[in-house]
Formats: sequence, structure tokens, C-alpha cells
Amino acid sequence: MSEKLWDGRFTEGTDKLVERFTSSIDYDRKLYAYDIEGSIAHCTMLAKVGVLTDEERDTLIRGLEQVRGEIEAGEFRYTDSLEDIHMHIESRLAEVVGRVAQKLHTARSRNDQVALDIRMYLRAETRYVISALRSLRKALADLAEKQMGVILPGYTHTQRAQPVLLSHHLMAYYEMFTRDMARFEDCLKRINVMPLGSAALAGTTYPIDRHHTAELLDFPEVSANSMDSVADRDFAVEFMAGASLCMVHLSRISEEFILWSTSEFAFIEISDAFTTGSSIMPQKKNPDVCELVRGKTGRVLGDLMALLTLMKSLPMAYNRDMQEDKEPLFDAVDTLKMCVDVYARMLPHVRFRADVMEKATATGFLNATDMADYLVTKGMPFRQAHGVVGRAVSVALSQGKELHELSLEALRGFSDLISDDLFAFLTTEQMVNRRRSFGGTASENVGQAIAAAHKALEGEK
Ligand code: ARG
Repeated sequence: MSEKLWDGRFTEGTDKLVERFTSSIDYDRKLYAYDIEGSIAHCTMLAKVGVLTDEERDTLIRGLEQVRGEIEAGEFRYTDSLEDIHMHIESRLAEVVGRVAQKLHTARSRNDQVALDIRMYLRAETRYVISALRSLRKALADLAEKQMGVILPGYTHTQRAQPVLLSHHLMAYYEMFTRDMARFEDCLKRINVMPLGSAALAGTTYPIDRHHTAELLDFPEVSANSMDSVADRDFAVEFMAGASLCMVHLSRISEEFILWSTSEFAFIEISDAFTTGSSIMPQKKNPDVCELVRGKTGRVLGDLMALLTLMKSLPMAYNRDMQEDKEPLFDAVDTLKMCVDVYARMLPHVRFRADVMEKATATGFLNATDMADYLVTKGMPFRQAHGVVGRAVSVALSQGKELHELSLEALRGFSDLISDDLFAFLTTEQMVNRRRSFGGTASENVGQAIAAAHKALEGEK
């Protein structure tokens, strides 16, 4: 006799290559714990509504628990001929408890079963990601607090632009990851919906109580349309879109850390525990963690694209295509988790070289905007001031000097509104601390932003 659970109408056995081709057991075995928990809830509900006796329920639950034990002990046998984790568990259950196992699948289909398992899996993983992002944000806020007072050039177009606090720069990432976390919290609401009982697509003739199943599995909501329940994976697309954005944010901080750890920048040094050496060049200390996070961003964006493309144009309701949702989803989840975790761990091990950063603020005309602002305080319209300073920059450049290295006499040649109070106006600290507009880089603002972050983090506990 065949071990398949669906071959009543078949007269020929499945081709071996087709078995290999259609099998998903290599990866969907990851869902075993959710599958068993879902089945236990399902038969508990079936007993409550009288479809199963209490005795049958208890036998099934005991059998399911034994199967779980076998899987966890590594004693479970996997085979392509049983396709997926759902079939494996049910088939082993039959060996363990006998004929009563055939009743477990009453009022259920693999279509709603797999939808349930994925939602339970993704719900747990999303909660993990949320707490990991909280740790990452905490690490950033702590670092920003510790580095308070350090000034570095802020860049636009990767060209030195205006001086900013390092803490302000770090808190920019705090903001990005805060939004990422909010996206995951929001998408969790749509993941956390219970699809079981939708059966193959149309619902079921048995008098089931889906709300009871939902209660048993701690779902606040039951899906409203049986076809939609088995047909869509939009909740997974949302998660992966959130994961993609979060990875894009991580790739940007990675790119900066890679640049900053070059000898050309030398703004940071990443500790030995988070870097690796070269097999041929003894002097090397490479920022591999950052590079890998930057690289892995591509995988997650690809995973999102794979799922979107998979779902595009699928007719209602379930289609076997959808079995292909799991590998990209699992990959995106595993990759994101690892990247967020490794960053939260690495951040305290990054040494910021305040001396090099401050030195870098002294060149590159970072005070040009402020010199224009100075002229504005003396009554000159901004556009005109912009032109005056532009001419001063051009002259300074030709002499290999910075603006503040020109003599007062030379500066007055550009505008007689300039007097010797200009030099104090152009110190780096002054430039930073004058930017007190809400969200600006002044120490006072950044200190408040950090305090607000700590307060928010406390409140999330
Ligand atoms: N392994 C399948 C999947 O992951 C389970 C659902 C199969 N349903 C079916 N009617 N063949 O999508």
C-alpha cells in the first residue's frame, strides 16, 4: 500500500522525479511546531462541537505530542513521497494512534492548514524582529549619548557639507529603525488573523467553531472570507517589504561604516571581534560584518520580488505555486534577524575617532553657509550673501586656504559688512549649536532627542 494520503483515485504511482519536484519537506519542516499546535487546537475545537469524542481528542493530542517529541529528538523520518510537513505529521500520527488519526483532517484542508502555519510562524518571527529592533535602537541611543559633543562633517553628495554632531548622525538611524519597527508592529495586526476552518476554499459543512480555534491559538481575529484566507499571502509580502526597507537602512549604515573605516577616512575602528583578516595581506582588518550586511540586503530585496512575482496574476483560490512562498520568506526572516542582531551587538564595539572627525571639519569649507548666514545677520539678503561667499571660496581655493584662514582685510574685500566677530561666528561648535530649529543638530536638540528616545524605549518594555 502507498503511504500517500490522497491517492484513492490514482491507479499509477507518482514518478520519482515528480515526487522530488513537488516535495517541500526539505524546508517546510521548519513549520512542524506550528503544525502540531494548530492540529491540537483543531481537534480540541472538533471535540467541543461534537465532531470528535473527548476520547478521540485525547488520543489524537497524545499522538501529536509524541510526534512532536520524535521530531525534536531527531528521530523522525522524512521522505519526498510524503511531500510536506503536514502529510508527514499526519502519516506518522496514523502509525502512532491508528485509525482515529484519519479523523484529524475533518473540516480542514492543507490549504487552510498551511495558511495557519505560516501565519503562526510569521507572527512569532515578527515579534522577535520587533524586540531585536528595539535592542538595536537602544544601542544607537546609548551610543549617541556616549558620543555627545563629537563633531564630524555632515555630507551631501558624499561631499563635505556642514558640521553635525556624531550623535545627530547616529540618531538619524535611530529614527529609521523606529519606523521599521512600527511597520512590523502594524503588519503584525494583519498577520495575526486565524484562517483555519476555511478548508480547501469554500468553508466546511461541519458545525465548527472557528472563533474557539482562534481563542485556543491566541488569535484576536478570524479571517472573514474562506477564499481569501487560502488565496492570499499579502501579510507575508508586507513583512518582506518591511524587511527590505529595514535591510536598506542597515545597508546604508554599513556603507558608511565601511567608508569610515578606510585609512582615507579613518573615522572609526571596528574591534577585532567584529572584523576579519586577510589570508594573504597580514596588515588587513576588514569590515566583513558591514560588507555582508550590505550584501545580504540584495537577498532580502530579491526575496520580496520573488514573492510578489509568485503572487502576481494567480487566479483564486489556492494554487500550488504558493508552495514557493516559503523559501524566500524563511530566507528573508533569517537574514533580517541575523543582521539586526549582529548590528546591535557590534555597535558598542565601534571606536569613533573624535580627533580625526574634528580635524576633518576644519577643511572643505564647511563654514561657507554660516558665513553667508553671518552676512544675513548684518542685513544682506541671503541670495546675495551666497554669491559673496562663493567668490570668497573661489579666491581661498586658489590660495590653498580655508575661508577662516583669509585675513580680515582680504575678507572685507568681499563685503564691508564683515568684521572680526566673523571668526567666532565660524567656529565648529557655534555652527552646530546655532542649528536649533526643531530636528536640527544643535546639542540642545540632540540631547532632547536622545532623552525622548530613552523614554520611548522604556515605555516599550
Ligand atoms: N505544501 C503545500 C504548500 O506549502 C501545502 C498545501 C498543499 N495543498 C494542496 N492542495 N496540494 O503550499
